[in-house]
Amino acid sequence: MLSTTPVRLILRGILLVAAAAASSIASAEDGYDLWLRYRPLAPALRAQYATKPTAIFVERRSSRLAAAASELQRGLSGLLARPIPVSGLRDGAIVLTYTNCSPTGAYRLRSVRLHGHPVTLVSGCGDVGTLYGAFALLRLVQTARPIEHLDLSDAPKLSLRMLDHWDNLDGTVERGYAGASLWNWRELPKIDKRMIDYARANASIGINAVVLNNVNADARILTPLYLRKVAALADAWRPYGIRIFLSARFSAPIELGGLKTADPLDPSVRAWWRAKADEIYRVIPDFGGFLVKANSEGQPGPQTYHRTHADGANMLAAVLAPHGGTLLWRAFVYSGAATDDRAKQAYAEFAPLDGKFASNVIVQVKNGPIDFQPREPFHPLFGAMPHTRLAIEVQVTREYLGENAGIVWLGTMWSEALRSRTARPEPNSQVLDAISAMAGVANIGSDRDWSGSDFDQANWYAFGRLAWNPAADPARVAEDWTRMTWGNDPRVVKPIVAMMMTSREATVDAMTPLGLAHQMASDHHYGPGPWVSDQPAPLWNPTYYNRADAHGIGFDRTATGSNAVAQYASQIARCLADLRCVPDSELLWFHHVSWTYRLRSGETLWNALVDRYDSGVADIAGMNSTWSRLAPHVDPQRHAAVAGSLRRQLLEAEWWRDASIAYFQSLSKLPLPPGHSAPAHPLAWYEAVRFDTVPGFLAPGIGSCRTSVVTRGDPPCAP
Ligand code: GCU
Repeated sequence: MLSTTPVRLILRGILLVAAAAASSIASAEDGYDLWLRYRPLAPALRAQYATKPTAIFVERRSSRLAAAASELQRGLSGLLARPIPVSGLRDGAIVLTYTNCSPTGAYRLRSVRLHGHPVTLVSGCGDVGTLYGAFALLRLVQTARPIEHLDLSDAPKLSLRMLDHWDNLDGTVERGYAGASLWNWRELPKIDKRMIDYARANASIGINAVVLNNVNADARILTPLYLRKVAALADAWRPYGIRIFLSARFSAPIELGGLKTADPLDPSVRAWWRAKADEIYRVIPDFGGFLVKANSEGQPGPQTYHRTHADGANMLAAVLAPHGGTLLWRAFVYSGAATDDRAKQAYAEFAPLDGKFASNVIVQVKNGPIDFQPREPFHPLFGAMPHTRLAIEVQVTREYLGENAGIVWLGTMWSEALRSRTARPEPNSQVLDAISAMAGVANIGSDRDWSGSDFDQANWYAFGRLAWNPAADPARVAEDWTRMTWGNDPRVVKPIVAMMMTSREATVDAMTPLGLAHQMASDHHYGPGPWVSDQPAPLWNPTYYNRADAHGIGFDRTATGSNAVAQYASQIARCLADLRCVPDSELLWFHHVSWTYRLRSGETLWNALVDRYDSGVADIAGMNSTWSRLAPHVDPQRHAAVAGSLRRQLLEAEWWRDASIAYFQSLSKLPLPPGHSAPAHPLAWYEAVRFDTVPGFLAPGIGSCRTSVVTRGDPPCAP
């Protein structure tokens, strides 16, 4: 008798501890749920949904309506902390239906009476429209906006909204900083839950196409062994409106077909591709098509046979056309051996081909003329190919922007590119008027949190939202994501949105201010290397881009230099070429100026440069302080993860600032302006830093990704 009391107490204690542990596990956030967390809204916010919604009613049979219903049920039950059943028609129900209208994917959310019942009608153009409408309705509730008296409609502005995965068949990811490839080729065609959650996330932001494999393609993806597995993914993703594309290696007829040539005009080559396309469509009837990187960075292509890009693209387009497929042909081409300005090469090759591409070809153009730099002017091909369908390609993964450290939100950067004025064909034409598709190089891997950090998820999210509507207001996108990811507390929302909105500019300042570009260390592009000049091709050297010497700095792209400005519409070119008109942010991209050149502000170039580096570091320090102040309002697990990542971002910003100033000062020989401190180490120290292994870097000639030994969080190896 006596002994039972303490035993009971101990047992109770154990149970209490276990219960507490279980509840903290239940509420622990590891990022897996992305922006689809569906945690209960605060009771005060929940009150506005007290009478509505009551249930979900599916009016028509369709796997996409079923997916929409299941998402609404999961989301609303979680957010409103009460069960929302899928049921018959009743007062307060959400009714899911669709019609055949256009554009596919459009939707309307309306409060109406149906057979006497007040309901919320979600109707789509096609059942995929209803799916998008369901996610839009969920977003309203997630962001605590009213759903009474609704009449809201929306439609995608671009028909193709595509994520490009640079995943290799061996499970590595080129330029991937979030673990290994998501595609488990060994397990497929078995589909695991993660594949469905991936599709849900994409559907929630309107992404409707996925390229599974690296543009530096392995032909084996086109063999029956892989196609069976690809078909299983296509089946699993169809209810979420996602079509699969594959990167095709141009020389596949040689490697897989045993042909002697891949010449696009050779009848045996055409026949091989035709048979291959027919074979693919037999197993994947809604296969999207191919993406091709040709004659660039060592990839095979039509020029190997003295044919043009149009010859190559049209041959592949012809075999896809009978099946309704699309051929995406990349304009990211340059030759390391060329003596002309790298920024001019893609335009020089592609602009003359305008009008020569088949109607199911889309030429995929990077946002800027070089390569996903922290800031580039818009690519001059936008507006210059009025008779060709164009896609803009942006990089969601942060190859040149510090990988996955800290916060660099790219919504502002892409919006800047999309809204750039091309002045072609109309004086006010923008890049977004010239495109019919948007592709983003994915930042998604096998890491539990998908993207390598909470804030990198925001870039995936922003990509989907801007591909849906390139004119979307980035601040609104940032706010939606923040509310969905961090909750609706204004004490959290306002500062996070502010950090996101300034983060990219801060990064540009800390890494490559005033129009500098490509100053990263070689190959892996991690960390500063403005002094590097020993690469086999001149245009792989940062010194090629900065052109810094004792007299000045910057790349003269005016008529006295490479004349790259001439590739833009004349009124744009005039401004860019004119020192009184070019924006400071693009000054050194277009002009070579002396260290003592005076900016319009009156500051000398040298002083302004130092000032920009320091303001970048200061802004990133400010982001660290803002985040620290959020500790009481954010769950400890996620708060600590972001705090650690921001600390690393600050260290790296200081490293960039110090290394760059040390190098440029060795040339300018000018003193630092008052109030700016000297770099922590002499230049030789920064020059000696080596990173032999950086994740996501596919070493040339090695053929597989060297995994991280000196990991990113480590301090640079001291000389
Ligand atoms: C960049 C990147 C490469 C990639 C290439 C491309 O140059 O560093 O890894 O293959 O872009 O877009 O094709």
